[in-house]
Amino acid sequence: MSAEGDAKKQRAAQAALAYIEDGTVIGVGTGSTVNFFIDALGKCPDRVRAAVSSSNATTARLRAIGIEVLDLNEIEDLGLYIDGADEATRARHLIKGGGGALTGEKIITAAATRFVCMVDDTKVVTSLGKFPLPVEVIPMARALVSRRLAAYGGRPVWRENCVTDSGNHILDVHGLTIDDPPALEHKLNQITGVVTVGLFAERPADVLLIGTASGTDVV
Ligand code: A5P
Repeated sequence: MSAEGDAKKQRAAQAALAYIEDGTVIGVGTGSTVNFFIDALGKCPDRVRAAVSSSNATTARLRAIGIEVLDLNEIEDLGLYIDGADEATRARHLIKGGGGALTGEKIITAAATRFVCMVDDTKVVTSLGKFPLPVEVIPMARALVSRRLAAYGGRPVWRENCVTDSGNHILDVHGLTIDDPPALEHKLNQITGVVTVGLFAERPADVLLIGTASGTDVV
């Protein structure tokens, strides 16, 4: 990513700080935009009581800035989840999972009252699908799920040398036409062996922060 691209991500990450209610537990996603958010939070770590984390990588970064990381099972109410995305529409439908942490991300998204998503403006599209859709699968079901995805018109490519935090494999599905993101998410979730579909549409982001060359747009 270019310096200009990083600056856009940093603007969105900085804007996300405003959504934290002081003294609460927040959920934190995974990726380079989230890393900018964690860097910004590192200047004011006392704003949060603790965090729940979507990945081992994020857990390590949060601990490095002195933030306690709790197990999601210990939390009854999670007010806020902050994460990035690989593609987003203005309807706040997302493709996520480029970093491989989609399962933890989807679980925390489901648990949170409010999901604030940070992207740079190059990721905003009118129709999802140019970015290959990550699908996490149980390893023994990889070929079976690949055949089913191909029957839906996609071209699944196994992300070799990638084992997720939960010990699973990822298929990156190219060439899908995603006219109705919630319907496709629902359909792909029914394939036996699928753990998580990287479409976040049945439960979209509540707020989309778009970092631009001059500031941050809020959708
Ligand atoms: C991680 O699995 C992903 O869902 C990330 O949130 C997404 O890939 C965005 O990553 P960047 O912020 O690095 O672009």
